[in-house]
Amino acid sequence: MTKRKVTKAIFPVAGMGTRFLPATKSIPKEIMTLVDRPLIQYAIDEARAAGIEEFIFVTSRGKGALEDYFDHAHELEANLERAGKTDLLNVLRATNMDSGAIAYVRQHKALGLGHAVWCASRLIADEPFAVLLPDDVIAAEKPCLQQMIEAYAETGGNMVAAMEVPYEKASSYGVLDVREDMGALVSVKGMVEKPKAGQAPSNLAVIGRYILSPEVLSNLDAKQQGAGGEIQLTDAIAQEIRTSNNVYGYRFRGQRFDCGSKAGFLQATVAFGLARPELRDEFDQFLGELSAMRKAAE
Ligand code: UTP
Repeated sequence: MTKRKVTKAIFPVAGMGTRFLPATKSIPKEIMTLVDRPLIQYAIDEARAAGIEEFIFVTSRGKGALEDYFDHAHELEANLERAGKTDLLNVLRATNMDSGAIAYVRQHKALGLGHAVWCASRLIADEPFAVLLPDDVIAAEKPCLQQMIEAYAETGGNMVAAMEVPYEKASSYGVLDVREDMGALVSVKGMVEKPKAGQAPSNLAVIGRYILSPEVLSNLDAKQQGAGGEIQLTDAIAQEIRTSNNVYGYRFRGQRFDCGSKAGFLQATVAFGLARPELRDEFDQFLGELSAMRKAAE
């Protein structure tokens, strides 16, 4: 079994973000801000903590603001330095990416997540790689991808982040068919994207963190359409189960927020707001007053 270090990550950010229209008419979803940082920054920080050195963004038309976000803000840095605003300067500098560490590829048509990942094939070549979907934001003591990289050091193969969901919600996810449940780790005998109601093989759903072998990219070469007429990453991973039988699910420790949906984004805003020492007291008081007002009105 090959176990190579994972140093490359793909960030598919070419989706249309229709659930956030009209905002996403001009703002890429990944630039939307949770407290004071764009969603993409949470994903980058998580990837860095897991040892990722090369960051590959699969973008599309209208995502210019995302590319600009990664430019160094020399003038702003100089102004903050002159003004002695060291804290802000440090915040800004922590977002800087090294030249050469970032690459962009274009997905010309939103044909699905599998297709977006395939678009980065040439940059991945023959190495294992991570995929992070920035709209899944995960609050965790140890960042989710780091937990997975540690587990992957034992298993090799392919690994997907997994989370228990209510059975009635399973049809919104890729779902694992579990061969053996070993606790945090499960070995997988099948995967289904968005199963029909009542047909989910388990309630263990795949969420947006993956460690994949380059064979998955070869499986995507066929560009076969799956659920919803899209080229699905799930199908290419499921093919690996059939040919190599080396796919694992990993129950991560942490709380995942679906920031691709409005309700999930609002929940994340509350959770991350309350986690900030400088906001906690005022925000907590406001939420307490709000719930007291609601109770009084009932
Ligand atoms: P979503 O299913 O959330 O789609 O994609 P979306 O277009 O971003 O949002 P809605 O549903 O229209 O509101 C999950 C992830 O896959 C990427 C998205 O950018 C997001 O990170 N994706 C999806 C692509 O890069 N290309 C695609 O063709 C589809």
